[in-house]
Amino acid sequence: MRKQIIVGNWKMFKTNEQGVQFIKNVEAKLKANPNMIVGVAAPTVMLSDLTKVAKNIKIAAQNCYFEKEGAFTGETSIPMLQAINVNYVVIGHSERRDIFGECDQMINSKVKALVAANFTPILCCGESLEIYEAKKTMAHVAEQLTQDLAGVTAEQMSQVVIAYEPIWAIGTGKVATPEIAQEICQGIRQHIAKLYNQAVANEVLIQYGGSVKPENIKDILSQPDIDGALVGGASLIEDSYLGLVQ
Ligand code: 13P
Repeated sequence: MRKQIIVGNWKMFKTNEQGVQFIKNVEAKLKANPNMIVGVAAPTVMLSDLTKVAKNIKIAAQNCYFEKEGAFTGETSIPMLQAINVNYVVIGHSERRDIFGECDQMINSKVKALVAANFTPILCCGESLEIYEAKKTMAHVAEQLTQDLAGVTAEQMSQVVIAYEPIWAIGTGKVATPEIAQEICQGIRQHIAKLYNQAVANEVLIQYGGSVKPENIKDILSQPDIDGALVGGASLIEDSYLGLVQ
């Protein structure tokens, strides 16, 4: 049976002090569940302190660069993250793609570097409203995954988490219905079977993201091909975060 994985994406919110207090408060109330991975993807500046106070909460970075070191102003390397005990990294979020111009080739380099270092990339994919309305979602998402996973072996796929986030549902309050989310996540699993094999597809964890809240998470997680959620806004408040993971 696949585990569930629920990760809060704090995006560019909170100070270091607020982040540390949040993790301490939530850890004090969180009941560990062996069948569920819970995490927070936090701004880089907080990661070192958060990993020191987190026990059951996995601390994820929101981005990294694929080179080990060098003249890459503003970037964070995988060895730097490893040194502070971070081993989950969100890669290819639509905000990275759209605002910061990350292309599939760069995302692919990051995914390959992460799995080579035994990290877990949370690889995001998803379509714009235009693509959704043109009913081309599955073709778009399949093409993103084909490119982003090029050169990743079947064995390495056991470390990869996929997050399906329709851009039109991010921060808009417009949640894809559980049926739509299920249809695409099922399509993603079938595409992974095509790229690899059925066993890899059966194992891969697929999250849905886009306006997930404590009120709708149950319906989303009850879908057979959805193994968790990547949550923005609703993960910023302690009670709401607890409502998502418990
Ligand atoms: P919201 O949950 O705020 O819609 O954000 C989703 C998201 O982008 C998570 O990565």
